[in-house]
Amino acid sequence: MTVARHLLRMQDLSAGEMRSLLDLAEAMKRGEDTGAPLAGRCVGLLFNVPSTRTRVSFQVAAAQLGADSFPYGVEELRLANRESVEDTIGVLNRYLDALVVRWYDMNEPGAGHERLRTMAGLATIPVINALDDEEHPCQVLADLLTLRELFGAEAPARRVVYVWSYSPRQKTPGVLHSSLMAAALLGHRVTVAHPPGFAPAERVTRSARAIAARTGADITLTEDLEEAVRGAAAVYTLSWKSPTLTGQDELRARTRLADRWRVTAPLMERAGREAVFLDCMPTTRGEEVDAEVKDGPRSRIFQQAENRLHTQKALLTQLFDGTLTGDRR
Ligand code: CP
Repeated sequence: MTVARHLLRMQDLSAGEMRSLLDLAEAMKRGEDTGAPLAGRCVGLLFNVPSTRTRVSFQVAAAQLGADSFPYGVEELRLANRESVEDTIGVLNRYLDALVVRWYDMNEPGAGHERLRTMAGLATIPVINALDDEEHPCQVLADLLTLRELFGAEAPARRVVYVWSYSPRQKTPGVLHSSLMAAALLGHRVTVAHPPGFAPAERVTRSARAIAARTGADITLTEDLEEAVRGAAAVYTLSWKSPTLTGQDELRARTRLADRWRVTAPLMERAGREAVFLDCMPTTRGEEVDAEVKDGPRSRIFQQAENRLHTQKALLTQLFDGTLTGDRR
């Protein structure tokens, strides 16, 4: 049986593989002719929650690479009639060449990532994490390309501040976790500003800092929002469910934070004069971020969204052309 290469977590890619993938994404974005490396292939997209950016950018990426793509909601497959994951993946192995999966339920944190690991364990085709309750590596590859475009060779030294921001919806910490791991692997400087009770999960911070000790990355956590953004190169709004508070306690705590924990124009003023605003979206104006920031001249949110397409084209290409070897050097 062929052993397929999967992308479930950011650490599934080495720093060298990330850089190589970003090089190819840049070339693709410049319009270099990279042919149709996925001609004749079929990519399945299995999502249990809605998506605009991830789903559409994977469909367009597949089309531009010469592949066909097929989106399925979980309720459209026999999974909804209790067919087992084993049988589902066993069948999809025989039809598809890659499977992109988004799966989580914030009432059951961690179960989505376990589900993806089970699928990958059964799959003879690459399984790509399109957001679960632990990681969102595809979003972070696009963010890395955006940082490279904004700051060039200086990107590792330019500090990105991830600001926990109020949302009435409990969101997965996937972007946060993948961002911390990417920063650790690539030696970047990042700060996470969060209210009490909303620090990143300790095991993620511990793991990122262990890697940072080797790569020279600087990973700082703080509850001082105003101080955190001072001198930042980029302020990134993010919301995630507390890893320690549960149920109504979490929702009550979240609601109390609504007024203070938001990216506002005065907060951007405290950052460097050149600081840009980043946001993986979706976000709601007046909740995670004020409209004047999201729609203002410092905002780079559509550049980020566009880069989803280029980095996913590079990812799909390199999953099939043998570039992503799994070599950890
Ligand atoms: N950023 C992101 O993953 O967006 P979607 O939920 O629309 O895919």
